[in-house]
Amino acid sequence: MNAATQPNRESLLATGGSNPLRGTIRVPGDKSISHRAIMLGAIAEGETQVSGFLEGADAISTMNAFRALGVRIKGPEQGQVKVLGLGMRGLTGADHDLDCGNAGTAMRLMMGLLAGQNFSSTLMGDESLSKRPMRRVADPLAMMGAQIVTREGRPPVRILASSGLHGIDYSMPIASAQVKSALLLAGLYAEGFTRIHEPAPTRDHTERMLKGFGVKLDIDGAARSLQGGQKLHACEIDIPADVSSAAFFLVAASIIPGSDLILAHVGMNPTRTGIVQILKLMGARIDLMNPREVGGEPVADLRIRSSQLKGIEVPSSLVPLAIDEFPVLFVAACFAAGRTTVRGAEELRVKESDRIAAMEAGLIACGAKVQATADGMIIEGQPDGSFNSCVIESLGDHRIAMAFAVAGQRSAQHITILDTNNVATSFPGFVELARSCGMQLRQQS
Ligand code: S3P
Repeated sequence: MNAATQPNRESLLATGGSNPLRGTIRVPGDKSISHRAIMLGAIAEGETQVSGFLEGADAISTMNAFRALGVRIKGPEQGQVKVLGLGMRGLTGADHDLDCGNAGTAMRLMMGLLAGQNFSSTLMGDESLSKRPMRRVADPLAMMGAQIVTREGRPPVRILASSGLHGIDYSMPIASAQVKSALLLAGLYAEGFTRIHEPAPTRDHTERMLKGFGVKLDIDGAARSLQGGQKLHACEIDIPADVSSAAFFLVAASIIPGSDLILAHVGMNPTRTGIVQILKLMGARIDLMNPREVGGEPVADLRIRSSQLKGIEVPSSLVPLAIDEFPVLFVAACFAAGRTTVRGAEELRVKESDRIAAMEAGLIACGAKVQATADGMIIEGQPDGSFNSCVIESLGDHRIAMAFAVAGQRSAQHITILDTNNVATSFPGFVELARSCGMQLRQQS
């Protein structure tokens, strides 16, 4: 059973007390890269060996979907996965609907990959995913000749057997790596060239990984283009720790006095490091140690020491590069000196929950001075403040739950966070790892 549909809802109790964080930890593997490793491995020729794979529910949903499409996948075992690729035309139709669970990335990228197959598929998801918009992918795929049926733009998504796709030249109206990736994957199956223009830089793991699998992909400023009909060749993929999971510790160590923490082997892809840049603009003490490149992705160890943060206007150019980190960034801003303003982040309203509304409600319950706007948040920091004891609705959103687990470290008493099963979608073992470096946190069921 998927984590999101389990009847027993877990909760977290953060018991506060501003205990400093210390030691060296490694957070789990990158979620975005884990999804892509399975997908590209599945349509490659040969055996793709993956290490550092995220054994969280989201990436496992992708793995199970590709097994249902006929792909043999061994693992995961301690982050090791072997994908026995079937080549571009080797997938076979599944005999049941493909369950993407809570994972928007699984659904949107698979829409692109399945749009050019000669069999039909149906993609479904949990309650949260079933509310999320899919036209952003379905519409441009239809322009390529795909036949896709949604329930008023939302899942389930039925992708009909293709009678052939053709390349398009498409300017995306929103900055979304999921849309870009879906169209590039469909482009592999299309006749001619597919050219995608993005309105702002977004994570480029698909581009990097396609190149690693031997695909010729042209990058020219904001445009990416590739020719259909290319073959992928299996390769080795070493997945770094997820900077989006590291973000909870970057913030916690920054706002808890006396902290000095090292996060090992964190992915430092420049299209993902908005959180580091924003925290540094706020005065965080983050040192990048031992920068290196692993399997086409930049990696470093990060040392974070606590510091007094200051409020800033978050530069709009950094918003897409930190899009998943805003829940915990809002927590950081509550303890910064002065006002922090975030604009241009309306995409937060269509994530696993409406993250602007969820964070506003929770932070107000904590006693913070925040005001949501249509596309962001205004936060008046209280540098010496501590949060009230309160109960938070995470709305089943993993990043809301973990953001308040961090918030609870600066609570005078304790914060209870409800509905936290989905933490395991992106961060299995969160509570144990957080406790191991000093966070005061307990799981309750
Ligand atoms: C992702 C892209 C982002 C991000 C999501 C993962 C990806 O979504 O929020 O968690 O792996 O491509 P959008 O493309 O909707 O911005």
